[in-house]
Amino acid sequence: MTSVNYRRCGRSGILLPEISLGLWHNFGETDSRSTAAALLTRCLELGICHFDLADNYGPPPGAAESMLGDILGKELAGHRDELFISTKAGHLMWPGPYGDWGSRKHLIAGIDQSLRRLRLDYVDVFYSHRPDPETPIEETVEALVQIVRSGKALYVGLSKYPPPLFNRACALLAEAGVPCLLHQFRYNLLERNCEQGIIPAVKSQHTGAIVFSPLAQGMLTGKYLHGRFPADSRAVRSDSPFLDSAKVHSQAVGVAQFASIADEAGIPLTQMALRWLLRSPDITSVLIGARNLEQLEQCATASGAEALPPDVLQAIDAVSVLTA
Ligand SMILES: NC(=O)c1ccc[n+]([C@@H]2O[C@H](COP(=O)([O-])OP(=O)(O)OC[C@H]3O[C@@H](n4cnc5c(N)ncnc54)[C@H](OP(=O)(O)O)[C@@H]3O)[C@@H](O)[C@H]2O)c1
Repeated sequence: MTSVNYRRCGRSGILLPEISLGLWHNFGETDSRSTAAALLTRCLELGICHFDLADNYGPPPGAAESMLGDILGKELAGHRDELFISTKAGHLMWPGPYGDWGSRKHLIAGIDQSLRRLRLDYVDVFYSHRPDPETPIEETVEALVQIVRSGKALYVGLSKYPPPLFNRACALLAEAGVPCLLHQFRYNLLERNCEQGIIPAVKSQHTGAIVFSPLAQGMLTGKYLHGRFPADSRAVRSDSPFLDSAKVHSQAVGVAQFASIADEAGIPLTQMALRWLLRSPDITSVLIGARNLEQLEQCATASGAEALPPDVLQAIDAVSVLTA
């Protein structure tokens, strides 16, 4: 395939690839460095120039940033300006009262630690990884503004903010002259709450929208439908506690229904799930995870593929209503 397509990120000067790569899984110390380097190199060839990280991605926390930092200095040396690299702080990183959440103290220490691991002078986007119910939003926003003003990040992003707080944070960022570039949230065939919540807010704020877990961590590939779980899959790996058999079983009915729609349409379920997200002009980029080159290539082909036919979209909506 040739390059993926690009979409403008809100009202900014930034274009993002329709498919971006997240390093939450598959770039830790338990993963293969050579596979990681091959994935990132192939991304660049496919035009997937946006890599999404957070300080806590690993395992252990910090390892994904260190892995990317090493690869940027070797296999990807000389390509920094072609890449759009994000990181985040706001989840637990170190002991004590300053190792978590959204205080100025945590966020400033967080970006400094991330830049050291990434071996970069700046990241392209720095996110508040999650809203902090106890820190005043003004303090979190001031820290984000300070990070941009000090040249440690070019843009600010927000992740998992509910609409009212997202709107407030956007207003404060705009007042400070550092508009929010994009919001990052979960969206896939099985989880559509954002359609009534954060998507209208993102549209009204004119920010970009980048959506994570588009395949529901692999469930929307259909790999768990046939009884035995593949040995190397995320639901089986002990270093990946965010998907387990209970979660897989709880979604089995919905996944089976989407699989039968895909089957009838003659479209692989993975493709249907990704192309369904890309149907929406409100979505700037779909943030995938990939464990190997085959997965990456399969996901990348969703960009530029034919639009899903109206009868498939209707069938999907009917299942979503039933399983909501
Ligand atoms: N802001 C936040 O709080 C937040 C939260 C979650 C994620 N994210 C971001 O979103 C990114 C993506 O999330 P995600 O990893 O959950 O995305 P995902 O695309 O839903 O799941 C990725 C997993 O699906 C499986 N897969 C992918 N393509 C496949 C294919 N073609 N065939 C078969 N299996 C395939 C692989 O799992 P197997 O290992 O089972 O093969 C892969 O690791 C993360 O890396 C991170 O950057 C952000």
